[in-house]
Amino acid sequence: MLVRKTKSNKILSVIIFWCAFIPHSYSEKLNGTDVSEETDAMSPFESIMASYKLVRYQPRHVHLSYGSNPTEMVVTWSTIDDPGSTSVEFGIEKIAENRVNGTATLFEDHGELKLKQYIHRVILRELQPGQNYVYHCGGDMGWSAEFYFRTMQNGTNWSPKFAVYGDMGNENAQSLPRLQREVEMGSYDAILHVGDFAYDMNSDNGLIGDGFMEQIEPIAAYVPYMTCPGNHEQKNNFSHYKNRFSMPGPYKSMMYSWNMGPIHFISISTEFYYFLKYGINQVIEQYEWLKADLLEASKPVNREERPWIIVYGHRPMYCSNMGTDDCTNFDAFTRVGIPFLHINGLEDLFMENGVDLAIWAHQHSYERMFPLYNYQVYKGSETEPYKNPKALVHITTGSAGCKEDHAEFKKEKPAWTAFRSSDYGYSRLQAMNKTHLYWEQVSDDQEGIVVDSFYLIRENHSSYQIPDGSNV
Ligand SMILES: *[C@@H]1O[C@H](CO)[C@@H](O)[C@H](O)[C@H]1NC(C)=O
Ligand SMILES: *[C@@H]1O[C@H](CO)[C@@H](O)[C@H](O)[C@H]1NC(C)=O
Ligand SMILES: *[C@@H]1O[C@H](CO)[C@@H](O)[C@H](O)[C@H]1NC(C)=O
Ligand SMILES: *[C@@H]1O[C@H](CO)[C@@H](O)[C@H](O)[C@H]1NC(C)=O
Ligand SMILES: *[C@@H]1O[C@H](CO)[C@@H](O)[C@H](O)[C@H]1NC(C)=O
Ligand SMILES: *[C@@H]1O[C@H](CO)[C@@H](O)[C@H](O)[C@H]1NC(C)=O
Repeated sequence: MLVRKTKSNKILSVIIFWCAFIPHSYSEKLNGTDVSEETDAMSPFESIMASYKLVRYQPRHVHLSYGSNPTEMVVTWSTIDDPGSTSVEFGIEKIAENRVNGTATLFEDHGELKLKQYIHRVILRELQPGQNYVYHCGGDMGWSAEFYFRTMQNGTNWSPKFAVYGDMGNENAQSLPRLQREVEMGSYDAILHVGDFAYDMNSDNGLIGDGFMEQIEPIAAYVPYMTCPGNHEQKNNFSHYKNRFSMPGPYKSMMYSWNMGPIHFISISTEFYYFLKYGINQVIEQYEWLKADLLEASKPVNREERPWIIVYGHRPMYCSNMGTDDCTNFDAFTRVGIPFLHINGLEDLFMENGVDLAIWAHQHSYERMFPLYNYQVYKGSETEPYKNPKALVHITTGSAGCKEDHAEFKKEKPAWTAFRSSDYGYSRLQAMNKTHLYWEQVSDDQEGIVVDSFYLIRENHSSYQIPDGSNV
């Protein structure tokens, strides 16, 4: 009873505060007078909302991501008003009074209306591996619907499954319904969304981002939704991306690495190379971080235990699409380094550390390359090109669906590309074991049939030999 009373007192005082404050500027507007200083305190949208005395404490945009180790899960959501508390309650069979608190951050969009929302984050720790949990999030002013997740299995002797795609918009998110169904049927352990969300999250005062986060909730509230930034996130130094997602590590979701079963994943920002206006130092910082991360992951003792190293980032180094994107250029920035200086190119670093697979998006199509270095093909053998290849494999999967339509390919197919499809769709990845990695491409245009598949086989995950006459 006491709690209730305090709570309603709190609400009452909030309302009194708003009533005392709002009608003044609002009536000024109605009288049609010049709206001066007072209205600066409140945007037109806010004053309209305030005049309805609508409170919006209800959690929305609920999504998961992995924490810094397998026993953690991070829950992130948004509320429009500040509910004053940020909590997750969870349990194994049913939600228990197992309440964990987190943090709330005010996020203000840079658009004309300066819309505000609160981003809530809670880290669940010391979870049991391979265990199903149910949860809800919110707090004293309201709880979400009930969702569930399965924690990561311990160790490296299991075969995690992923859906992988980039470039999915709010409008024309063609692959989304199929992905929502498959996730809810339990087909995946996690999702990799390789940049470009919503088109764009900051559009229409951020309401496009809100709509998109609502669309992915039926996926992301059940399995970790792991991301990297794309060019469509660049506005205001990637503020929507940084605020809305919660990837592990200290770099605001821009770069991080994580382990799952036999895979070490590394997520990078290719966009640092293209938006130098936000600081060239970010290219250098990422390069040094990446070098150290790869060095650690490829230490024999670590590689033995967790042999697969998979890198994902938004813009490809190679593509055979029409147009003038950087991947159509011989000296793509991420491949050979930033223009003129040619420093911090990534291809040599990947070769030296025996990176197995590089996943990209950006082109609204699907393209599987042969094992490749400096535009030369290094097949394992003529009959089994992907068995013990002598260079890494690049795949571009950016065709989930958005308002910008399909990307077409150049008529002539280069010798280094193995398979191309302009259909909308997405990829599936499964690390079968320490030597076999399975990949397939789903066409949504063709009712979900698999249009491409292959095994990448590496019996020895050591570094590749960089041929003479290379990049530098
Ligand atoms: C707006 O109109 C109301 C009602 O006529 C009046 O009481 C109020 O003073 C007016 N406000 C301004 C700023 O003119
Ligand atoms: C969590 O937050 C609620 C609401 O603010 C508070 O009552 C509770 O004591 C907090 N729990 C912990 C463990 O801090
Ligand atoms: C996971 O496995 C490792 C090594 O087998 C073990 O040391 C660790 O305690 C396990 N963790 C949990 C949470 O079971
Ligand atoms: C952009 O954000 C990063 C942090 O993520 C910061 O280091 C950098 O200085 C920012 N750039 C500008 C121009 O504000
Ligand atoms: C690894 O997986 C592949 C494909 O499923 C299978 O053919 C192979 O026998 C497996 N290797 C081991 C050591 O289990
Ligand atoms: C893997 O390849 C490296 C370099 O070619 C070699 O030194 C090492 O002995 C190989 N390991 C195995 C288990 O074949």
